[in-house]
Amino acid sequence: MRKLLLAVAAATFALAPAIAQAQGPIVIKFSHVVANDTPKGKGALKFKELAEKYTDGKVKIEVYPNSSLYKDKEEIEALQLGSVQMLAPSTAKFAPLGIKEFEALDLPWLFKDDETYANAMKGTVGKWLFQKLEAKGITGLAYWDNGFHMVSSNRSLMKPEDFKGLKFRISGSKIADQYFRLMGSIPQIMAFSEVYQALQTGVVDGCENTASNYWTQKFYEVQKDITVSYHAHLQYAVIVNSKFWSGLPPDIRAQLEKAMNEATDYTNSIARQENEDALAEIKKAGKTTLHYLTDADRKAWQEAMQPTYKWAKGRVGQEVLDLVAKELD
Ligand code: LMR
Repeated sequence: MRKLLLAVAAATFALAPAIAQAQGPIVIKFSHVVANDTPKGKGALKFKELAEKYTDGKVKIEVYPNSSLYKDKEEIEALQLGSVQMLAPSTAKFAPLGIKEFEALDLPWLFKDDETYANAMKGTVGKWLFQKLEAKGITGLAYWDNGFHMVSSNRSLMKPEDFKGLKFRISGSKIADQYFRLMGSIPQIMAFSEVYQALQTGVVDGCENTASNYWTQKFYEVQKDITVSYHAHLQYAVIVNSKFWSGLPPDIRAQLEKAMNEATDYTNSIARQENEDALAEIKKAGKTTLHYLTDADRKAWQEAMQPTYKWAKGRVGQEVLDLVAKELD
């Protein structure tokens, strides 16, 4: 009897992939908060295309852009619960998980240009940060670039004094909170999907973001002045539910990893141009004035924001600051 049971069990086990396939493809819900027509939006669609191709349709990727499934904070909870399998939040949004170290990447004027950023993320700090996620049931797969932040309001922001008393929407990082405070303004965390309305109704006076987000979310329609300051960097962590990911058949997971590597190269190769194109569109729309800092203005901002670095030690810890610094040498 026991032998018979074992034989039945073995046969069922052998049939499992066939049964899974008969039941339809493995579905990966990939939720994010930006438009399809942005570096992240395009990256997600590229991953879908490649993943479905490489797995021969055994995996179906459902991309939900523009917070259509979940907003910022909810999406991370949904990932942990397994309601979605894949996300690509900005690294500024991990504090609700109790992980503050990613915020080191939000330090103002940390990366002097795109190349410096890209090189730094190829180093040890990226992997070290991903290890922090594992204890939360989350696996980091890749970092996606979205360039540098600009800042806006309904008045021109050229000198630190210009920020005084203004309310700015920030996405989640206490480092951003700190540098806005040092400029004399009042930062406020708010979900990305709520920003347009908050700017329109005056709940906040201004915000920071990259050109592709200003363009696709139409923030430029409700902000008279944008300073192309590039004072901080915006990057995403592509993450998955660990249990789901490790439970995938190894051959499928390998194909998905291949698709993710290629989608990552693609996203990171278009980010700069996408943001330049978006900035050109904003300019063409003529609804907002673009301002550029002189060297002296930039120096004044840098000096005003500099104490963020000292403050950051207490927030993110020395270890990650050292790891970041090592990649900048
Ligand atoms: C924001 O909330 O401003 C950004 O993180 C949105 C995004 O994902 O680019």
